[in-house]
Amino acid sequence: MKGILYISLAKHNFTSNELDTLVCNASNYNQKYGITGYLYFEKGYFLQYIEGEESVIDVLIHTIQKDPRHEVINILEDQDIIARRFPTWHMHQLAKSSLIQLNIENILMDYMTNDSKQNNILLNSDHIWRIVYKLSTYRTEIIL
Ligand SMILES: Cc1cc2nc3c(=O)[nH]c(=O)nc-3n(C[C@H](O)[C@H](O)[C@H](O)COP(=O)(O)O)c2cc1C
Repeated sequence: MKGILYISLAKHNFTSNELDTLVCNASNYNQKYGITGYLYFEKGYFLQYIEGEESVIDVLIHTIQKDPRHEVINILEDQDIIARRFPTWHMHQLAKSSLIQLNIENILMDYMTNDSKQNNILLNSDHIWRIVYKLSTYRTEIIL
């Protein structure tokens, strides 16, 4: 199994309706292909985590990268996933209000956009994966 975390810049102002439609379509597709993860949208940036069988993740990330509605800026891959981190979320849209820990997403965004260097936050990709996986344990306990 493989997990991918990426950040992208939206090419236009996404309305909440557009976002809901995107997540709904994504969720249907992902359910069909056994893909799980989440999508966070804030300040014109998407932060998405997807996980599943390597071959289906490779196809999906290729499709997502070609999507003209956004531009992917930074991608991290984890090839060695043993178990799913978000087994029940075929594509869960995270809202800022849904979780107190969510400001962690902004830390991830800073890292992925290289702003952490400006803010003198020293993180490497191992730290980032640990943060994402830690979040998965909070979320199953708090949201669901
Ligand atoms: C930020 C973002 C995240 C997306 N995430 C998914 C996803 O998880 N699953 C999915 O099927 N499509 C996702 N899409 C939509 C795909 O890029 C694509 O539009 C959709 O799969 C339809 O592809 P097609 O036009 O080639 O049929 C996402 C699009 C954007 C902009």
